[in-house]
Amino acid sequence: MKSIILAGGSGTRLFPLSRKKFPKQFLSFGDDETLLQKTIKRNLKAVNDINELIIITNNDYQFHVKNQISDIIELSEKELHIILEPIGRNTAPAIALAVKYALDKLGSSEDEVLFISPSDHIISPDDKFVEYVKKAEELAKKGHIVTFGINPVKPETGYGYIEADTQNKIDTAYKVRQFHEKPDLETAQKYIMSGNYYWNSGMFAFSIKTILEEFRKHIPEIYNQIENQTFEEVIMNFEDMPDISIDYAVMEKTDKAVVLPLDITWSDVGSWDSVYDVLEKDESQNVKIGNILDVNTKGSLIFGNKRLISTIGLEDLIIVETDDVLLIAKKGEGQKVKEIVNKLKESE
Ligand code: GDD
Ligand code: MG
Repeated sequence: MKSIILAGGSGTRLFPLSRKKFPKQFLSFGDDETLLQKTIKRNLKAVNDINELIIITNNDYQFHVKNQISDIIELSEKELHIILEPIGRNTAPAIALAVKYALDKLGSSEDEVLFISPSDHIISPDDKFVEYVKKAEELAKKGHIVTFGINPVKPETGYGYIEADTQNKIDTAYKVRQFHEKPDLETAQKYIMSGNYYWNSGMFAFSIKTILEEFRKHIPEIYNQIENQTFEEVIMNFEDMPDISIDYAVMEKTDKAVVLPLDITWSDVGSWDSVYDVLEKDESQNVKIGNILDVNTKGSLIFGNKRLISTIGLEDLIIVETDDVLLIAKKGEGQKVKEIVNKLKESE
């Protein structure tokens, strides 16, 4: 089994800390290791060998990736596989390119299982995660496309929803009736009430044979490019790839999906509110990162990297200070940083 780590996204939902030039996977929250570094270590436990790891990222991020890897792994010892995309085309083309790399550069057979994972999530504990990946590998060997489901706790519209056929059990997984990527709020509310829906955690497992077949059936533009060109040619002509995520290109269309429900701590750290939710709080329910001095402050996230930040009598705030930006927001409204980012873009 190979572990493919997707590390080329450019999200800005954690503005002002995450920027296009420095997206979330390269950040750390509350300790020294970045989300990418944690992902690499965690996935290494599932595949055991550094040669089984493939990191795929945008050319623009190659130095972030290489620096962060060299901090945790002795690079000279062994070869690490890093694929650089010349241009971002979202996750379906990225996965297709990784498939091509495994086949052409690593001599993988079509029976090889690929475990696909994002690089910017918080997941724990590692040993449980590894058990789930191993189960997924067994299912993938039988021709299933394995998704990893999280019990939904709110009608989040930024996720995919997996509708499980709970009458149709396959080992510890369920057959997927339908995958619904990013529904609107009303639909998400309906899903939550139904009880047989999971959030898609963004990880997948399938054999090369299965995913090639699904690309051929559902998104021939991608299939033809990897089928009729060498790896180098696919990179050279990457611009011709459609800009589409695996969720829309394959997951919504396939009838081969199963869902493995996860009982694990998972967060996609998609907003400052979710950073607050997932990190350890002090006795006043504050999350404090950096040099913070507070008096009578409750339920707040305070994140700084330079100056002393002092607060008095505050409640339920998000305060994030970087070299050039100070963000102060009401907790619960962290999703709206995208409106700030849009306003900034307009004024550029
Ligand atoms: N190499 C590469 N190239 N990686 C990419 C690219 C790309 O063009 N675009 C995104 N990625 C990486 C991101 O860095 C992230 O690790 C992962 O692929 C997923 O991309 P996101 O852009 O973060 O997707 P999303 O969060 O909107 O939605 C996905 O994740 C949700 C869970 O967090 C979907 O799979 C949803 O269904 C899912 O619920
Ligand atoms: Mg994401």
